[in-house]
Amino acid sequence: MTVPSPTMTTRVLHYGADAIAEASQLIAAGGIVAVPTETVYGLAADATDARAVAAIYAAKGRPSFNPLIVHVLDLAAAQQLAVFDDMALRLAEAFWPGPLTLVLPLARDAPVASLVTAGLSTIAIRMPAHRAMRALLAATGKPLAAPSANASGGISPTRATHVVASLGGRIPLVIDDGATEAGLESTIVGIAGGLRILRPGPITEDALHDLFPGEGRGPAPPSAVTGPRSSPGKPPVTAPGQLESHYAPSKPLRLNATSANQGEWLIGFGAIAGDETLSESGDLGEAAARLFDLLHRADANDRPRIAVAPIPHDSLGIAINDRLRRAAHRD
Ligand code: TXA
Ligand code: MG
Repeated sequence: MTVPSPTMTTRVLHYGADAIAEASQLIAAGGIVAVPTETVYGLAADATDARAVAAIYAAKGRPSFNPLIVHVLDLAAAQQLAVFDDMALRLAEAFWPGPLTLVLPLARDAPVASLVTAGLSTIAIRMPAHRAMRALLAATGKPLAAPSANASGGISPTRATHVVASLGGRIPLVIDDGATEAGLESTIVGIAGGLRILRPGPITEDALHDLFPGEGRGPAPPSAVTGPRSSPGKPPVTAPGQLESHYAPSKPLRLNATSANQGEWLIGFGAIAGDETLSESGDLGEAAARLFDLLHRADANDRPRIAVAPIPHDSLGIAINDRLRRAAHRD
């Protein structure tokens, strides 16, 4: 996928009434705006406007078979778009607003452009907690489609500077409200045939398990994630969002490194100090919040390779290791 060459000036405005008013006008006019959420910065557009949604795909250079998450202000807005059964309602009650995305059957006559779901009969939906995204949802009165605000396949942005580095010249506005809190994209769950984690994230398997004992353990079987209809010339339908190489820095990345080899910039954790560390005290929440920032920094310095210390594979470590494994993958 080629990303169009830069054609416009990208403004960065600090979060506040003026920034939200300007962003809201841009969205109403069919434009796209980068805005922070509690997970990562998103690139938002009116989900009901097909041309606006197409502009997201174009700016990111994203393959059109990869559908987008729709953000809503409240449950009533969510129920216009998706069919909620008891399990979905309980999940929404327990974790919304917050970093949980539900993949649910698309409601009949749901007012979203079909490009948002990439032709699927399901929709990925979430109610964010961040003040900037919530203010934009309230100001526009629209459901907002928003993938992470980075060029497709790149590292997700947790700061406004990351957005500008990746999409500067391709989007008109970034709302800057500092570093995001969670630092990892939302947990995505599907509920068809039982609770399935489609993408690990800030809401952990343990937290889901506490709500539904016996559900949500283990990875989703391939059949649990339905892809869009395949068509000739396109790759067979992959599990959306689960492309192997994702969140990729431009340099080779070595996992489970206990020390740096020559030419490597080492990202430490716990007892392994590294050039910089995800968390000196071995705190997984701190590590998640810093992960993409350190990957950006590792990518930007002059050493040719990156290495990362081992991260324990439990709780938030599962989501961190998921992102690291994809970042390390080379086609
Ligand atoms: O935290 C987040 O989720 C951030 C912020 C901005 O909200 N958004 C985000 O969006 O990570 P994105 O587009 O980078 O990732 C959304 C993932 C994609 O991998 C996509 O394939 C998957 O959600 N997805 C979207 N609709 C789906 C569906 N109907 N079924 C299964 N997966 C779906
Ligand atoms: Mg993304």
